[in-house]
Amino acid sequence: ADEKQAYRDNIRRLLRERDAVMVAHYYTDPEIQALAEETGGCVADSLEMARFGSAHSASTLLVAGVRFMGETAKILSPEKTILMPTLQAECSLDLGCPIEAFDAFCASHPDRTVVVYANTSAAVKARADWVVTSSIAVELIEHLDSLGEKILWAPDRHLGRYVQQQTGADVLCWQGACIVHDEFKTQALRQMKALYPQAAVLVHPESPQAVVDLADAVGSTSQLIQAAKTLPHSHMIVATDRGIFYKMQQAVPEKILLEAPTAGEGATCRSCAHCPWMAMNGLQAIAQSLQQGGEAHEVDVADELRQRALTPLNRMLSFAA
Ligand code: 13P
Ligand code: SF4
Repeated sequence: ADEKQAYRDNIRRLLRERDAVMVAHYYTDPEIQALAEETGGCVADSLEMARFGSAHSASTLLVAGVRFMGETAKILSPEKTILMPTLQAECSLDLGCPIEAFDAFCASHPDRTVVVYANTSAAVKARADWVVTSSIAVELIEHLDSLGEKILWAPDRHLGRYVQQQTGADVLCWQGACIVHDEFKTQALRQMKALYPQAAVLVHPESPQAVVDLADAVGSTSQLIQAAKTLPHSHMIVATDRGIFYKMQQAVPEKILLEAPTAGEGATCRSCAHCPWMAMNGLQAIAQSLQQGGEAHEVDVADELRQRALTPLNRMLSFAA
């Protein structure tokens, strides 16, 4: 405990000295989210992280999340230093959508508007017409559909199918998946619902269709926190990374929050409701990144690539405004 306190004190001091502010995702560990809040930073979903970072006056952003979030921050704020506790914090969606294969996929469907999820590399964003996060995906596809556009969607196949079903648009999907949300199990969730008839089921749309079909609310991390507040149920069964429980419990202190079932400790569960890359954002790594900076921690996006990725990202921010 003393050691953790020393790290926290050190981080507070380094943030001040470096004119830096912390931007943390809801999936980081509770102690990281608490520190971001206490030091005047933010805890948010991926869209709000991008907005907060680009609007803030600090000259350095410490992004506690995964690499695409750091890259997005750099693309939107090239004049800022963007630090991450580790540049090894990946995302299975980003990893599952390499630019060469994606470029070929787009080239073979030139009649489609290319919409990519924020969970992608800068190079994939640069190839897209639009970037989108889960909080505005349905609205954007609805809008593009109303203009008569056919969509090429990447990389998350579950979210792609979900927006297709919600909007009726013509959506061709890349077949990526999130290793965390892919693990939620329908049969076990059905049993849990039967055990807790007073519970609402909250589901992130990166989950498989059969899980989404059991949901009372489907949405991005901030939308799920909002749903926990507005739904009348006393219990919430939550199908997303358990990191979200920290802010959700703050929002509804009187409610009982339950983790939706995954495969459990068995051989088939790689992530068990906690993103292994989000978990890399520890106190020690944060202190180190602020202390050392440099190649191991500083996000860099080549200028030409940055310029191309900026256009679809700005479209996203204007659409969301
Ligand atoms: P949100 O945009 O809902 O925060 O999702 C980001 C993410 O990585 C979900 O797995
Ligand atoms: Fe990527 Fe899934 Fe981790 Fe989110 S939870 S960062 S989508 S691997």
